[in-house]
Amino acid sequence: MFRDLARTLLHESTILARLDEIAARITDDYRGKDLTVIAVLNGSFMFMGDLLRRIPLPLRVDCVSVASYHGGTESSGRVTFDQISLPDVAGRHALILDDILDSGLTLEAVAAKLGGLGALSVKTCVLLRKRKERTVAIDADYVGFDIGDEFVVGYGLDFQEKYRNLPCIAVLHPDVIRAGLDAPAGASPEEVPSPS
Ligand code: IMP
Ligand code: MG
Repeated sequence: MFRDLARTLLHESTILARLDEIAARITDDYRGKDLTVIAVLNGSFMFMGDLLRRIPLPLRVDCVSVASYHGGTESSGRVTFDQISLPDVAGRHALILDDILDSGLTLEAVAAKLGGLGALSVKTCVLLRKRKERTVAIDADYVGFDIGDEFVVGYGLDFQEKYRNLPCIAVLHPDVIRAGLDAPAGASPEEVPSPS
């Protein structure tokens, strides 16, 4: 898995040190308030675990499952919700956690959904924010790191559902991306069974 990486952008220790800072701010901002954290799966599972254990508040946790990439390295522009039941945020403050703010379509769609469910407030927190022009008028309230506009994996982020378990944020070799985009859905070169 590590040989597929061109370079590491953020080491685990750097990420965790930044989470200490964000968690302290969130703790101050939501002390005494009824908070529900809504994690956007699958990409935010590692971020959620590491961030929430640093917030000593009696918060609730819920998850929503959305997808907008559908296997490529560019947002399809279509955000689909997978689950049947939505979080109960009526009369509570909602904080949405996502791995990355890219086009902004995902956060906008989730925030709109929660606003419609009667949340007292809806704020957003992302580990990464890509520096780029966005057509969607949304920004995150809490941001871990601003990064360049390139495709990254690790710490929850995937390329074709792989590399989510990397402890760091990294950039893949262009060859790996090319091979993945050329391969049939769900297969990667080393996983295609040999004909013998
Ligand atoms: P947005 O809706 O375009 O802001 O994209 C948000 C979602 O796209 C994130 O939650 C990620 O799952 C995925 N995504 C965006 N950029 C990247 C990336 O560089 N690597 C992996 N996934 C990404
Ligand atoms: Mg994703």
